[in-house]
Amino acid sequence: MTDKLEWLEQRKREAMEGGGPTRIAAQHSKGKLTARERIDLLMDPGSFEELGMLVLHRTTDFGMDKQQYPGDGVVTGYGTVNGRLVYVFSQDFTVFGGSLSETHAEKICKIMDMAMKNGAPVIGLNDSGGARIQEGVRSLGGYADIFYRNVMASGVVPQISAIMGPCAGGAVYSPAMTDFTIMVEESSYMFVTGPNVVKTVTNESVSSEELGGAHTHAVKSGVTHLTAANDLEAIRHIKHLLSYMPQNCEEKPPLKPYELEDELRPILREIIPENPQQPYDMRQVIEGVVDAESFFEIQPDYADNIVIGFARLAGRSIGIVGNQPFSLAGVLDVNSSKKAARFVRFCDCFNIPLLVLVDVPGFLPGTDQEWNGIITNGAKLLYAFSEATVPRITLITRKAYGGAYDVMNSKHIGADINYAWPDAEIAVMGARGASEIIFRKEISMAEDPEAMLAEKELEYKEKFANPYRAAARGFIDEVIDPAESRRKLIKGFSMLENKAVSLPAKKHGNIPL
Ligand code: HXC
Repeated sequence: MTDKLEWLEQRKREAMEGGGPTRIAAQHSKGKLTARERIDLLMDPGSFEELGMLVLHRTTDFGMDKQQYPGDGVVTGYGTVNGRLVYVFSQDFTVFGGSLSETHAEKICKIMDMAMKNGAPVIGLNDSGGARIQEGVRSLGGYADIFYRNVMASGVVPQISAIMGPCAGGAVYSPAMTDFTIMVEESSYMFVTGPNVVKTVTNESVSSEELGGAHTHAVKSGVTHLTAANDLEAIRHIKHLLSYMPQNCEEKPPLKPYELEDELRPILREIIPENPQQPYDMRQVIEGVVDAESFFEIQPDYADNIVIGFARLAGRSIGIVGNQPFSLAGVLDVNSSKKAARFVRFCDCFNIPLLVLVDVPGFLPGTDQEWNGIITNGAKLLYAFSEATVPRITLITRKAYGGAYDVMNSKHIGADINYAWPDAEIAVMGARGASEIIFRKEISMAEDPEAMLAEKELEYKEKFANPYRAAARGFIDEVIDPAESRRKLIKGFSMLENKAVSLPAKKHGNIPL
């Protein structure tokens, strides 16, 4: 027995050493932590239980049978983060560059299957050279086994991917199918084809960082939801994200204890500028409404004409979507519609109520937008809101014009409560544009067309650029003093706590992808 235990201890030591001290030192020299160090930082101390530590690959080609590392390049298991169960895999770059063999894939699939059965999130810490080249199609099959599970788990348990090293080829599609992706700056990249192939095919010269680094995906493509300065910050982001989410689609998100006070926020009266053309930062409204320091913005650098993120309201986890007048006057365009739609669907999957803050002049006109499919992409947001069954409250802070009024969680598409501030303007279009169209004849025949236009503009403004027409129809439930917003929203979400809505029976809808 003693011999057997010693043998076992030796194998475990080998697994703990990964690819050995030299490769670990190389990993550290790039500013990267090892697979096990990352798990130690993520999990509550002493909570991690490793599964599959003694797994070995089955390849004999290319002398691989003589190169065996227990665990085969990925550490997998379960443990707790802030007391809640999670499943994790962490790829070990020191072993064959973290490349994915058939057995490496089997280990990941095993914990994904467990996560599904037991209803807890899956966290992937990715650091891999992709499919293990020596294994050929078996490693490709391993990827597909993971992709399939990503899809089966989607909407059942939250899935979060941190990219902490290379992520190339088809390997990027697993993170892409998870709910949130976090990339570490300067040590991670994601692309389907790397710079060399790009050069051969398109003759473009581009570095890995420029093609698929964290900055590129945070600003240009929107592939990553968050970036982190280093591994430690990436892990902090994972924990922060988890704190807003339930364990699975059948649970409610965690509720933080909160003592109600008067909840008045007079500061909210000061945010909207006198001049309706002047921008302001919607984040000020958010900060004014939600619990102190609870707002966690997602994709802050992508399509910044819309703000999305998680927050707490009297301890309750909520998702926020807000037009951002600071950027492009808060207009809806292709990218902002896609960004918000995906977020709305995440919140709806996991029972996170939605607060929608509206200040939108409409959809962005132009050939660029039309040719890039603003019709289909704008429809994604419309579809996502319409389909969402979580509690949904809208607050119109200023403008709600045209189709964008409908799209931004209007009463007509199923919002539960719709508030407006007194300065809100709810109309088909802005007063000037509207007057130019409907009073064209009178203006052209007038002695002083400019004066006539100004007069008509004023007339239109007085009639329509206010929230009272909509309130008279019940499309707005109440016009409120901005200072009362937080109080109203807390009460509203509390009233909607047990909302139950079922969608018509169907296999699944056909969102305009
Ligand atoms: C086997 C690999 C490997 C791989 C790296 N290694 N990638 N072994 N299969 N895919 C090994 C290296 O041989 C090396 O072993 C060790 O890992 C570290 O690699 P280095 O090249 O020394 O490290 P670095 O300079 O940091 O470069 C990392 C890298 C590079 C950029 C990831 O290794 C690389 O380009 N690898 C190949 C990437 C690739 O083309 N993968 C296939 C993608 S296609 P030693 O023993 O020397 O330390 C794909 C298809 C998925 O993934 C399809 C899904 C649908």
